Amino acid sequence: MSDTTISLSRWLIEQERTHGHIPGSLRLLIEQVARACKRISHAVNKGASAGIMGSAGSENIQGEVQKKLDVIANDVLLEANEWGGHLAAMASEELERIHVIPHRYPRGEYLLMFDPLDGSSNIEVNVTIGTIFSVLHLADGVSEVGPEHFLQPGRQQVAAGYCTYGPQTTLVLTLGHGVTVFTLDSSQGSFVLTQEGLRIPESTREFSINMSNLRHWAPPVQRYIDECLQGKDGPRGKDFNMRWVGSMVADVHRVLARGGVFLYPWDRREPDRAGKLRLLYEANPMALLVEQAGGMAMAGTERILDIQPTSLHQRAAVMLGSSEEVALLQKYHQEAQ
Ligand code: AHG
Ligand code: MN
Ligand code: MN
Repeated sequence: MSDTTISLSRWLIEQERTHGHIPGSLRLLIEQVARACKRISHAVNKGASAGIMGSAGSENIQGEVQKKLDVIANDVLLEANEWGGHLAAMASEELERIHVIPHRYPRGEYLLMFDPLDGSSNIEVNVTIGTIFSVLHLADGVSEVGPEHFLQPGRQQVAAGYCTYGPQTTLVLTLGHGVTVFTLDSSQGSFVLTQEGLRIPESTREFSINMSNLRHWAPPVQRYIDECLQGKDGPRGKDFNMRWVGSMVADVHRVLARGGVFLYPWDRREPDRAGKLRLLYEANPMALLVEQAGGMAMAGTERILDIQPTSLHQRAAVMLGSSEEVALLQKYHQEAQ
């Protein structure tokens, strides 16, 4: 490691000491999450050689079959964050109820939410997967922490980020002062700073949506995608490219890295469900990152970060990325009202 390399730990200490952007307890929390992500990354890398591929033979609260790696990643995150004294409780895609910090450990002032393994359908095919996380502050004066304390609008997140397990293990983080990227240097076993002040280009020619659901979408989404598909000859006057990895972390990472728009909209198959993705530990952390990078994140006409959650595992429609495109989508939704 050269002298100019800045590790995640050093960067976090500078955020605390020099910029006053975070208190020490939040710094420790982020370090613990990063440590857990390193352990998950090692497990993912070992794959079939460690016998951790395939189904765990159980279902989570969403009725989805859990993969062994979903369970391993969830356990790693719970274990790493339980004893440090910085948390009051955790919530996970893989747990029906919140996990309150046991009495044998000191109780902290933060709440942590996570999708331990995002993109689990891509585990078997060796395609990028990841961990998504979000941090909230527990309201003052709470003696018994309950699920209701997690039901805060996403704009109140004090930190959010994700880690991708792909060709590189990358940690993308916001503390509400822009977006910073760290890459795991596996020879050193530490995350090193690789990009600060990440910005999403305002314009793009790339969209990301599961096209197989086209016939089920609402008219504004159909209109938007139809106009993209018309390319140069249509109202947009330019050709578009399409990408769909099927792991939100990988698709959103591409949007952050080079622009684009990512959509997982409401569709008429389950009209009572807002969308497929979960608000608290998928949509909200990604929305904060995207806004902090100068993009937009909407759920139709409403900003994702302004949604008042009503339950722990609720879903949200998601349209995020380059601001010109998301603003156009918002306009089409407003016109259809
Ligand atoms: P998870 O693996 O945590 O359940 O999340 C899967 C999500 C998300 O990562 C991705 O964008 C989407 O499901 C893919 O959905 P399709 O199956 O429609 O492609
Ligand atoms: Mn997910
Ligand atoms: Mn998951």
